[in-house]
Amino acid sequence: MPASVWPAIDGIAYGGDYNPEQWPREVWREDVRLMREAGVNLVSVGIFSWALIEVREGEFDFEWLDEIIDLLHENGIAVDLGTPTASPPAWFFANHPDARAVDRDGVVMGFGSRGMASHSAPAYREAAVRIASTLAERYAEHPAVVMWHVHNEYGVPVGEDYSPHAVRAWRTWLQEKYGALDALNAAWGTAFWGQHYTDWEHIGAPATAPSVINPAQRLDFARFTDAQLRSCFVAERDAIRRFSSLPVTTNFMANQHHGVDLWSWAREVDIVSDDHYLWAADEEGEIGLAIAADLSRSVGGGKPWILMEHSTSAVNWQPRNVAKRPGEMARNSLSHLGRGADGILFFQWRAGRSGAEKFHSAMLPHAGTSSRVFREVVDLGARLGKLTEMRGSRVHADVAILWDFESFWAQDLEWRPSEDVSHDERIRAFYEVLWRDNIAVDFALPGHDLSSYKLVIAPAQYLLRQADADNLNAYVEAGGTLVVSFFSAVVDENDAVHPGGFAAPLEPALGIRVEEHLPLRAGISTTITLGDDTFAADIWHEHLVVTGAETVATYLDGPGAGQPAITRRRHGAGTGWYISTRPDAAALRAVMSQVYVEAGLAPFDAPAGLEVIRRSGDEHDFVVAINHSATDARLALDGVDLMTGAAIEGTLEVSAGDVAVIRAPRTATGGGR
Ligand code: GAL
Repeated sequence: MPASVWPAIDGIAYGGDYNPEQWPREVWREDVRLMREAGVNLVSVGIFSWALIEVREGEFDFEWLDEIIDLLHENGIAVDLGTPTASPPAWFFANHPDARAVDRDGVVMGFGSRGMASHSAPAYREAAVRIASTLAERYAEHPAVVMWHVHNEYGVPVGEDYSPHAVRAWRTWLQEKYGALDALNAAWGTAFWGQHYTDWEHIGAPATAPSVINPAQRLDFARFTDAQLRSCFVAERDAIRRFSSLPVTTNFMANQHHGVDLWSWAREVDIVSDDHYLWAADEEGEIGLAIAADLSRSVGGGKPWILMEHSTSAVNWQPRNVAKRPGEMARNSLSHLGRGADGILFFQWRAGRSGAEKFHSAMLPHAGTSSRVFREVVDLGARLGKLTEMRGSRVHADVAILWDFESFWAQDLEWRPSEDVSHDERIRAFYEVLWRDNIAVDFALPGHDLSSYKLVIAPAQYLLRQADADNLNAYVEAGGTLVVSFFSAVVDENDAVHPGGFAAPLEPALGIRVEEHLPLRAGISTTITLGDDTFAADIWHEHLVVTGAETVATYLDGPGAGQPAITRRRHGAGTGWYISTRPDAAALRAVMSQVYVEAGLAPFDAPAGLEVIRRSGDEHDFVVAINHSATDARLALDGVDLMTGAAIEGTLEVSAGDVAVIRAPRTATGGGR
């Protein structure tokens, strides 16, 4: 059946994971009453309920699920129905002991947790499709059910699996990919350390070995793992589609888990949904949140998406589970909304008394309804209820940052030049400059059509295929501005260094060659000159050979002393910048302000700490202004405050810690996809 595109809910979706099976019936009645009070209109049910639905292999008990779905429906609350395949029951492992996942060290995963099954085990795949089909057949026509939630966060906690089933599937995958062993031997460079293969059956998973495993083999294993997990999703989705035309999603973990390639996954789901948890140690967690939200929107091609899970306050799995402070939950929620989410959901509705997550916050905390968190949940529900007209509006961005999971998989392997180099850190550093300037960002792959962007940044593109390099060179030639950070374009798709040396594929756009990487010792800070100013730079220098670029910054000391640190080349109608070190934040800001001018961009004029996001509808824009600071802020704006109905004439005031959402006149928007 063809799928519908958005669940049938009025307004912005609001709610969370709901686990009624953990509670007696009288609590259910209180739950639905309080959900109504909070304005909840969508809950995800059944995500971890396999053992209570299929009580023995092939024997089903739907009584409790029927009852709760009916009760939710009677109360006007829609259901996002989970397939519980992230947590197979005890009987499954008793009947199919071979279906347990195995880790890299050969440890067979035990029971009493979740996600222990091998995604390559035929018994698991069969059982997963059976439960998905059975649920779809039973509930496809139930008026409460508006969407399907397949599995939970594929790849977490079981990503790479080294079980015998996985090894068999891996060999088949390799045969399909390479056809002939000669091709595999060439791609993996097996002449190195005498790894040449003469029989497919001799190829193992890249399990723990005496020394480092062939990186091309590991990179392919990461691709295989991604493909296996995706085929599990597709099998369940297709089983559901036989009975139902409702949209099907699975919850991603955008920038918090890199194990699956969300660009490929987004093509398989009807709606992108994402889970995001603030990293408590990060005092500006709202920046990581913004990255996650922009990535969720970007992988879905800019379409509205759903924030499937976040937390009302503390989580339970970080070293220090810092509680959110008053107002923070609303700021977080509305930042996701401003970045394109048309649904704001939480893990979970009611805090669980038992089990591993009892210290996790919830919409209804252990403290009950007379608590700050519940009051804020009710308040947020009321606010979201006033934002229905924002649904479907889009974010437009003039800037794209490259985000390539495959490159991350390769970069994260062993024996890289410096453990101080991190793709996450580099992406965050560049993103942060744009975030502080309130310039909207999309994420993109290097092979995408980038022509609508004024600026493309490659903070961490270690692996770059030649065809994608050609695309970037052509983007610059046609007038684009490209900024490339060090340790990019180093290897091809087989983790083999590009002929001609590091960064050679981008020489047309950048006008440089990288003769040698010069990583720095721990804790060493060096100096670069940029115009009349000097700035700090650390972790990495390079020996650059300039073949057709001007030098913008020079190393004053350290291993690169006297040589170019940052370069700029006019190529065709555009410009290619290369940054061969890690400049400190002030230096990066200084470079980026020159880049802005070149790219025709300008920072948005707002006080520090005021995050301003714009979504564009057919007739209006919607401006979300989030005050992260401890002082009241003002913004020049005309429009109508959607929360209060007040007219904004010239100046919007946003109190410290508060958020305003304004219907504003539509502006012409460029860029974006
Ligand atoms: C998510 C997961 C939920 C819950 C939550 C706690 O990653 O999908 O089931 O465990 O974390 O933060």
